[in-house]
Amino acid sequence: MQFAERLKPLQFNVFADMDQAKAEARAAGQDLIDLSLGSSDLPVHESILAVIAQSLTDPATHGYLLFHGTQAFRRAAADWYQRRFGLRVDPETEVLPLIGSQEGTAHLPLAVLNPGDFALLLDPGYPSHAGGVYLAGGQVYPMPLRAEHDFLPVFEEIPTPVLAQARMMVLSYPHNPTAAIAPLSFFEAAVAFCREHNLVLVHDFPYADLAFNGTSVPSVLQADPTKEVSIEFFSMSKSYNMGGFRVGYAIGNPALIRALRQVKAAVDFNQYQGVLNGAIAALNAPLESVIPTIETFQKRRDAFVNALHQIGWQVPTPLATMYVWAQLPEHWADKSIEFCTQLVATTGVAASPGAGFGKFGEGYVRFALVQDPEVLEIAVQRIAQFLKVSPTAVKQG
Ligand SMILES: Cc1ncc(COP(=O)(O)O)c(C=O)c1O
Repeated sequence: MQFAERLKPLQFNVFADMDQAKAEARAAGQDLIDLSLGSSDLPVHESILAVIAQSLTDPATHGYLLFHGTQAFRRAAADWYQRRFGLRVDPETEVLPLIGSQEGTAHLPLAVLNPGDFALLLDPGYPSHAGGVYLAGGQVYPMPLRAEHDFLPVFEEIPTPVLAQARMMVLSYPHNPTAAIAPLSFFEAAVAFCREHNLVLVHDFPYADLAFNGTSVPSVLQADPTKEVSIEFFSMSKSYNMGGFRVGYAIGNPALIRALRQVKAAVDFNQYQGVLNGAIAALNAPLESVIPTIETFQKRRDAFVNALHQIGWQVPTPLATMYVWAQLPEHWADKSIEFCTQLVATTGVAASPGAGFGKFGEGYVRFALVQDPEVLEIAVQRIAQFLKVSPTAVKQG
């Protein structure tokens, strides 16, 4: 059987390899502590579940849902942006429901890129951003993120020929995997840059709410209130713990929303209405309803970071997201994949290798805080044991 060329760049997938390593560790009897996936382990609030349960028994929710039927959801999303960021959004032309934000960011390049066009992506970054570009026949230009520059890209580094052929830039802050946050001034510079170079500015924003110690997290639309070049993607998967329900939305420039809607019209009939009803209940709840979730992740962050510090592994304390981005000890500096495969094989602790997020992620490992503090502390004890013996393990390998 012959497959399309566009499949080739999708074949390298460190996370599939890690999945295999986890399965092998489990089969070998390891007690797995899985910190490798940013999938919240917390339950969806019962008030949201009650709305979904009620919808299930209502046959009016059982059919295909065309755009008109999503109006109540679009209004709830627009209203949430008004309350949260003080931004005016037209629910008819500036909001689009999605089957998870990943669906939207992966489909958008089909609407924006012609074959060979460049998309400017963060490196390290969320792998699906590059996947969507490849599916659209585009080229990826990785913008390196470095600790000394607060994991923000330096636009002046982008080569002129790349810029001439670039059509879109994808940002995402608070950032997976580095947990970096971007100030509003950075978004203002990004909007100005995209306007100057005629680029679509995409902002993937699933961690909008997961910020600690009162850290302020801006929307890109605050830097582009007339929505001239920007489109933002919000997810119900993180602060509302609805990852498995697959629901999110795009919000921003009406021409981009229309174009993404055209792509989606060829692909799906929108999310199930019962799930949208649950998401409406979530979005219409007081903004404070997400505080318990934020506090849970903050406690986990404190427990995990403190435990790492106690074993002598100095990592910065993240101000947002559900991740700790840890620079590997010197010995492992360019071996994040080996570190993670050996760690899970010998201790059962699964983490994500930085190299899986891009070339500039090498030298780091990402821990997802998807376990209770006691379990995170046990994970760190096992990591300490592993680090004590690991030089030998490397020589053997
Ligand atoms: C940057 C980023 N975008 C998108 C997603 C997926 O969001 P959704 O569940 O809404 O598709 C994730 C999940 O980890 C993410 O980290």
